[in-house]
Amino acid sequence: MKTVDPAEKLRIDKYIKDMWHFDPAIPSTDYQYVGQFTGNWIDKIKDLSFNDDSKFDYNRNKQTFADEKLPDDVVSFGNKDREKAVKWGYDNKTKYHQKWNDLPDWCSLMGKASGLKTPAMCINEQLPGSFLPWHVDLFYTYCEQTGREVKLEVMLKMRRYLVFMQDWKWGYYLQVGNNPITNWKAGQIITMPFGMYHLSVNAGTEVRHVMQINGLETEDSLHKFPAREIEINV
Ligand SMILES: [Fe+2]
Repeated sequence: MKTVDPAEKLRIDKYIKDMWHFDPAIPSTDYQYVGQFTGNWIDKIKDLSFNDDSKFDYNRNKQTFADEKLPDDVVSFGNKDREKAVKWGYDNKTKYHQKWNDLPDWCSLMGKASGLKTPAMCINEQLPGSFLPWHVDLFYTYCEQTGREVKLEVMLKMRRYLVFMQDWKWGYYLQVGNNPITNWKAGQIITMPFGMYHLSVNAGTEVRHVMQINGLETEDSLHKFPAREIEINV
């Protein structure tokens, strides 16, 4: 497993601390609505299956992000965020699955339609009672899967789209920066800048699925254009 240079971690950490105001009272707009995937793919969501291989491992980055030598006030990187979450009272038993492999065909069609270079898709399954507390994404798995270094320059060229896989139901809650997000429709797509803190909750009664599309930004990437509908049929 690759390790990340501590000096690079601190550079990324400084960037994240400087890029946002960290004040819940400021009415900032911290995410972008990108558009919506329509079409018959929605009928296929029920066929998705998750197994133990796709379980979210809370300690998966422990070696790569061995942070013992980093200052305690580092805001980024898995371990520091996770240590803080445990201190805040989270029990570390969230039921959250990530499926990167054997995804249905419509996922790659969406990846292609995203306009992102080398798109890598992942479907997140969040069970009722599960929380992903306030954290920031470092695209570590994407970097690992595509052989890229975990470096600030790479992060700043990267983009993640989140695609809601089903209509919003009671208890589904996403927050990006200062913006609560609810009442979404299946296929709607959002994105946020690198380094933006966010969280995800399922306090409802049914499992919730969201797909990530990760890739490098290009001039054709969807978020560079006004939000629009894109039909995906399989
Ligand atoms: Fe995240």
